Amino acid sequence: MKLTKTIGIQFPIIQAPMAGGATTPELVAAVSNAGGLGSLGAGYMTPADIQQAIRRIRELTNKPFAVNLFIPQKYHVTSDQIQKACHDINECCLELNIKVEPVIEPYTPSFEEQINILIEEKIPVFSYTFGTLDPIWIAKFKKNHTILIGTATTLAEAQLLEESGIDAIVAQGSEAGGHRGTFLGKVEDALIKLSSLVPQLVAQIKTPIIAAGGIMNGRGIVAALELGASSVQMGTAFLSCFEAGIPSVYKQTLLAQRQDNTVLTRAFSGKWARGIRNKFIECMDNKKIAILDYPVQNALTNAMRKKAKERNDINFMSLWAGQSVSLCRNLPANKLMNTLVKEAGLIY
Ligand SMILES: Cc1cc2nc3c(=O)[nH]c(=O)nc-3n(C[C@H](O)[C@H](O)[C@H](O)COP(=O)(O)O)c2cc1C
Repeated sequence: MKLTKTIGIQFPIIQAPMAGGATTPELVAAVSNAGGLGSLGAGYMTPADIQQAIRRIRELTNKPFAVNLFIPQKYHVTSDQIQKACHDINECCLELNIKVEPVIEPYTPSFEEQINILIEEKIPVFSYTFGTLDPIWIAKFKKNHTILIGTATTLAEAQLLEESGIDAIVAQGSEAGGHRGTFLGKVEDALIKLSSLVPQLVAQIKTPIIAAGGIMNGRGIVAALELGASSVQMGTAFLSCFEAGIPSVYKQTLLAQRQDNTVLTRAFSGKWARGIRNKFIECMDNKKIAILDYPVQNALTNAMRKKAKERNDINFMSLWAGQSVSLCRNLPANKLMNTLVKEAGLIY
């Protein structure tokens, strides 16, 4: 069965989940109402906030939507390493006049509590990244008829996800904005361009493949579908929409890009992610600092990112964006959806 039919959407366009506030209920609902699949990036949200956002989405649309979480990972850091990391981060954001200090665990909301809300709310689609989902959870979602979507950056990851019996797999190319979903081996060895990754997966995986990374317009959608993808997932293209919940200086920076000025960095979160180069990334790069694992580094840079937001200072914000950022358009999400559908010739 076609993936659009399985999910119950009109067009093979998924607005990527983007944790950190970008994917407001208004953005998610606007995309779903326009015939795509809106996704709430809930990775950093508390269970109560997730529930509230789901209920708000349901007030705004009766169409399918997705919620996305991060599969938790093991990390190991010592208190000495934390002290050293705080010192290094402080050195790189002196001009903000803040003091970065050790943060007390837990560094992330409880995954179990987050996921229990999704099960309680019987959400239509659950997508996730950074790993595979435990069979116990898969069984619970299946009982609710929730469609499950995992994320792969290599064939080996896609094979593992397929074995877990899920409904679709996002193929995240190296062009993609935000965090790398890699969970097997080194991220450096899993930087495969979308045009190489999608055909490999389509040839060897029976589960429908969703192409993600650098897709910004109708041409990109057509190309991905031609490579064998069943749908596309677009993040950066929706970040510059009116409804996206990011600081306006971040949106303006996206819209001002005339070329690819993105880099992969661990500086902000401890996990490799693609974003627009800025002062903080450069400082951390130049110092060749030993950056802590996710989510510890993420917790330590939180105060800095908060202050940067208050001061509208893009030098210390994480400006996640994909390599095709220069093609961003500033439109309401339903207009972007209509434009994409027309450009890609999806209405016959
Ligand atoms: C700001 C931002 C935040 C993101 N957060 C998430 C997330 O929470 N969960 C997830 O699965 N993917 C996340 N991604 C990655 C997207 O799912 C997708 O792979 C990526 O946006 C595709 O590349 P593009 O941005 O060039 O379209 C994020 C991407 C961006 C740009």
